[in-house]
Amino acid sequence: MILVVRRARPGDAGAIARVHVETWQTTYAGLIPDNYLVRMGREERTGFWTQALARMHHGSHVLVAEAKGVGVVGFSSFGPARANGVPLGSRFTGEIYTLYVLPDYQGRGLGRALLRQAFTSLSARGLDSALIWVLAGNPARFFYERMGGKRAAERIGSFAGADLVELGYGWRDLPR
Ligand SMILES: CC(C)(COP(=O)(O)OP(=O)(O)OC[C@H]1O[C@@H](n2cnc3c(N)ncnc32)[C@H](O)[C@@H]1OP(=O)(O)O)[C@@H](O)C(=O)NCCC(=O)NCCS
Repeated sequence: MILVVRRARPGDAGAIARVHVETWQTTYAGLIPDNYLVRMGREERTGFWTQALARMHHGSHVLVAEAKGVGVVGFSSFGPARANGVPLGSRFTGEIYTLYVLPDYQGRGLGRALLRQAFTSLSARGLDSALIWVLAGNPARFFYERMGGKRAAERIGSFAGADLVELGYGWRDLPR
């Protein structure tokens, strides 16, 4: 199967929303309140991604992973670090906001490919370090460790209507 990573286009909003809802419902069941997951709808998420892609210059801050003949099976969004409770002295300039791959397509190198391309893109914009927040209970954090991320921060975040512990994994000196 041919898998590619490319910049998102405005027409990808619906496909990204589908992946978003499906990965949230599989990843976060048992971690965040059920009623939030049950209410998540593709239409509302499509609206969110339509706006997000329009705001981001030609979709350049969103990448999609595509399986030829299938469509979008993963995505990542990223940009300047948001104000986020990172301790003084450990400032990161860039942030990975989202990174999701459909369950059937996990473990095939797409997460790594999306993350690497996001880092290259951040670095090309002059952002030389990056942070990503992950729920402490989400095994995806071991993926970030595998990718060289270092535990850099911790916070109680308001996530999908619940107060939950989030861990910040950081990368300094992003590869150019
Ligand atoms: C986390 C996620 C993006 C990783 O993407 P992926 O395509 O499955 O990962 P890859 O196939 O690129 O894996 C790259 C390496 O990390 C390892 N890895 C992946 N997930 C791992 C995990 N949960 N724990 C430990 N190692 C992991 C792989 O074995 C591989 O190792 P290798 O270098 O020896 O080959 C994906 O599993 C996912 O979308 N998970 C659910 C959603 C989620 O939690 N997203 C993060 C929100 S903050």
